Amino acid sequence: MSNGILNKYGSLLPLTEKTPRLSLCEGDTPLIPLKNISNDLEIKAYAKFDGLNPTGSFKDRGMVMAVSKALEEGAKAVICASTGNTSASAAAYSAHAGIPCFVLLPAGNVALGKLAQALIYGARVIAIKGNFDRVLELARQASGDMGIAIVNSVNPYRLWGQRSASWEICDELGDSPDWLVIPVGNAGNISAYYDGFDQYLGMGKCSSIPRLIGVQAEGAAPMVKGCMISDPETVATAIRIGCPVSHLKASNAVKQTEGRFLSVSDEEILQAQIYLAGRDGIFAEPASCTTIASLVKLKKLHSLPVGIKVVCVLTGNGLKDPDTALLKAPSPIEINAEWESLREVLQQ
Ligand code: F0G
Repeated sequence: MSNGILNKYGSLLPLTEKTPRLSLCEGDTPLIPLKNISNDLEIKAYAKFDGLNPTGSFKDRGMVMAVSKALEEGAKAVICASTGNTSASAAAYSAHAGIPCFVLLPAGNVALGKLAQALIYGARVIAIKGNFDRVLELARQASGDMGIAIVNSVNPYRLWGQRSASWEICDELGDSPDWLVIPVGNAGNISAYYDGFDQYLGMGKCSSIPRLIGVQAEGAAPMVKGCMISDPETVATAIRIGCPVSHLKASNAVKQTEGRFLSVSDEEILQAQIYLAGRDGIFAEPASCTTIASLVKLKKLHSLPVGIKVVCVLTGNGLKDPDTALLKAPSPIEINAEWESLREVLQQ
């Protein structure tokens, strides 16, 4: 079993002797071959299923690092703004570390499972009537004015920890894939992958950095449109972000790898969620399913080269947001508790 990323990849991370090695056994998530989708799309597709981290998203990779460094630096509390997953992770690692956690959320736009996580891990949860971009501004102000450690991806240690996913992919495949397809919200994760592959390239552990394909939802696609958006809207609430903090880093990462940004509609995201679950048995949250939606879209446009090796980063677990999943899923069949009724249904 994994001992956590600080223990596994400590020599590649900016740790000191004084950094506490926190661990909830994050990382070491499976790289699952998407057998049926690969056949459909004539590629070799894998899912890096980071929804199997301790709090159900990739955020744990960066959060273990950010909270460990906050402890090392003497922080008495941490704070974050979040569309849900960062807050779940911050709350869990703060509980583990024994320090208070303040969570600022955009009111009414956080999946129920994520809200439940932050509350159950004991964070002080504050719902703010504004979108994520405004909430993040307030979190930064609180951090600056009150000296509370901020654990959003403006904290550089977050992105350091998130590099570990790219190392795991290379370790497992023996090299980097041709393409890496990844959802983009605040644009931190795609930047972390770029840095992680680049670090491995420098160490001779992979032969190139994959083409980075960053995917956004159509109603929240500042990286695709090339300008910030004041009123982002999408069913994929995790990436409902109009002003990505790491937009410059992400643009550079995509440019350097001759990749691209593209967007998919809410309808395409929900269809992809059902397709991924029904075809290859993986239930990922809507934001993560932008990756599958984008491959389907590129295939239709004849822009998906046959035979390439593609890793889709499935950033979060579908169980966090069952309400959204049920928007398109078929309803259960309800019958009377009688054998005849059941037999009839089973024969249909
Ligand atoms: N996928 C999921 C499931 C996310 O929760 C996020 C971001 C992303 C993708 C995008 O990653 O921001 O690094 O580009 N969630 C943040 C949060 C904003 O608060 O949980 P990014």
